Amino acid sequence: MANIIVVGSINMDLVVRAPHIPIPGETVLGSGFGTFPGGKGANQAVAAARQAARVTFIGRVGDDAFGRQLVVGLQSEKIDTQHIGVDETAASGVALITLDAAGQNSIVVASGANHQLTPEHIRKAESAFINADLLLLQLETQLETVMAAALQAKAHGVKVVLNPAPAQRLPEELLPLLDMLIPNESETTLLTGLPVETLAEGEIAAQKLLTLGIGCVVITLGARGALLVSADKPAIHIPSFPVNVVDTTSAGDSFVGAFSVALADGSSLEVALQRGCAAGALAATRLGAQPSIPTKFEIDQLLLNAQKEQRT
Ligand code: RIB
Repeated sequence: MANIIVVGSINMDLVVRAPHIPIPGETVLGSGFGTFPGGKGANQAVAAARQAARVTFIGRVGDDAFGRQLVVGLQSEKIDTQHIGVDETAASGVALITLDAAGQNSIVVASGANHQLTPEHIRKAESAFINADLLLLQLETQLETVMAAALQAKAHGVKVVLNPAPAQRLPEELLPLLDMLIPNESETTLLTGLPVETLAEGEIAAQKLLTLGIGCVVITLGARGALLVSADKPAIHIPSFPVNVVDTTSAGDSFVGAFSVALADGSSLEVALQRGCAAGALAATRLGAQPSIPTKFEIDQLLLNAQKEQRT
């Protein structure tokens, strides 16, 4: 069983559906509101737990109703929450999400307690790193905390996977600590200054990232699937699975969680990519971040059906 640590954010998502995402100065009338557990870190932890991995979460919530509800939610997924601290100075993280008729979103995050997670909290959680296989990181916590977690993982021989979302420039010294970087198209462009309109362009951008010391790059391409580029093997492209898109929130997080667990379980890169793409596609068919994340069984079924269709 894969043993995964996630260092990251926990948010309550406040989601409103609207005919379109408003432009600056515009007011639109929405058509429904809901709250859903989210946060890139917590979503990836749930995605990994639903692939039957053992998951430990290191993060921070506020001393409030959202925080308590979010931690109970993670516990109900059998995620180890002993390293989630309760912050007395900041509210739990909140994400304001507008969802348009096509299932695309715009998100504003009020980080709150997520930004109070410090390198000291990572050091205090060192015991979690001892038998871990893989550390999952994103960028909704402070960069110094991300850096401390990556260094601690390396000291314990734990593989480091970074999903650089939301996009921002990365310190040079972080890059050689990454076994795997999983950006989407816009994050890839921000990190490299290069376009990712075609697979060939994606490969060139990924090669540029490899020269900075990263072990392997997987670019998630939404409806075009995912592209893996490493130094020693030919690039691998896996197309996406066609689905009815309802809400793309957490599709990327579902990819990251399922892909990472498959990798830690010893699957081939192709199989791990397929499982990641299947997870992302299934998550996009349902509303909300964590409620939409698929189980291992659902991914197995989608892959089986896709194989059957290929044979006929
Ligand atoms: O990746 C989706 C997540 O981004 C949402 O759940 C929201 O909380 C933001 O962190």
